[in-house]
Amino acid sequence: MTTTITRTDEADQQLKLRHRKLWASGDYGAVAREVIPGLGRLLVEASRIGPGTLVLDVAAGTGNAAIPAARAGARVVASDLTPELLAEGRRDVEAEGLRLEWEPGDAEALPYPDASFDAVMSCVGVMFAPHHQLTADELVRVTRPGGTIGLLNWTPDGFIGRMFAAMRPFMPAPPPGAQPPPLWGDPAHLQELFGDRVDTPVYRVGSLPVTRFATAGEFRDFFRDKYGPTIAAYRNVADAPGRLAALDETLLGLAAAALRGGEMRWEFLLFTATRAADASSHR
Ligand SMILES: C[S@@+](CC[C@H](N)C(=O)[O-])C[C@H]1O[C@@H](n2cnc3c(N)ncnc32)[C@H](O)[C@@H]1O
Repeated sequence: MTTTITRTDEADQQLKLRHRKLWASGDYGAVAREVIPGLGRLLVEASRIGPGTLVLDVAAGTGNAAIPAARAGARVVASDLTPELLAEGRRDVEAEGLRLEWEPGDAEALPYPDASFDAVMSCVGVMFAPHHQLTADELVRVTRPGGTIGLLNWTPDGFIGRMFAAMRPFMPAPPPGAQPPPLWGDPAHLQELFGDRVDTPVYRVGSLPVTRFATAGEFRDFFRDKYGPTIAAYRNVADAPGRLAALDETLLGLAAAALRGGEMRWEFLLFTATRAADASSHR
C-alpha cells in the first residue's frame, strides 16, 4: 500500500516528529516484549481475527498485536508513527518467515482509502495520539462497514492511568487541544468518540498481571530508562534537582503501593464494536 501523508500543517508535523522521537527513545521494544506481550494476543482474540482477515494495527509499535494477528493467519498491516519501532518488529519476525506490511503512518491521518480493512485494532496505541476525535474518525473511516474495531486501552484509574496523571506535572506542556491518553480507557469517552457509527459495542475491564518487577526501584529504573513518556518527564526536570527527586518519589510510591507479593495488576479496557453500515467518517 502507498504511504502518502495527507496533512500538511507544519506545526502538526513538528509535533508528530517530537512524538516520534519520544517513542524511539529508550527501548520500547523491551516494554512490549518483557511486560505486556499478553495484551496483543488478547486483543487479537477479542477482535475475532483469523485466517484471511485483512487487519490494520494502528500505533503498532514493534508489533505486539500485529504479530499474533499474522500468526493467526491474518493479512496484516502494522502502522505506526515511529519507523524505528516498526523496523525492530520486522527484524524480530524475520527468522519466523511471517509476512506483514510495516508502514509508517499517523493515526490522525491514516494513509489508506475509506473502508480498506476488515478489522482495525490498536493495543495501548492510538490512545497516545493527541487529538482523540480525529483519531476515532480515522479508525471508523478505514474500517469496512460490518468490520471490527478493537481497542485495548489503559483505564484512568488503573496503574498506568494513575502513573500518567502523576507524571503530568513533570512532563513538557501538552500541545493545544491534546487530551489525556487514559481517557480512551473510559467507556463514556469512547461512546462520545464513536457515537452511533459503531454497532454492538462491548466494553470489558481486565487487569494484566505484571511480575517483571520485584521492587519499586526495579520498576522505576526500567521505566526511567526504557519508556519514552517517562524518559521525557525525567529529561524535563533534569536541571531541577528538587523536581527530579519528587518525580523519583512519585514513581517509587506508585509502584510500592501497587506491588503485592512481586505482582502488580494493570487495569485496561477492552473495547470491540462493528462499524455501522451507514457510518460516515465525521459525525
Ligand atoms: C505504548 S506504545 C504501543 C505499541 C504497541 N501497540 C504495543 O502494544 O506494544 C504506543 C505507540 O503509539 C505510537 N504512536 C504515538 N502517537 C502516534 C500517532 N499519532 N500515530 C500513530 N502512532 C502513534 C508510538 O510510536 C508507539 O509505538
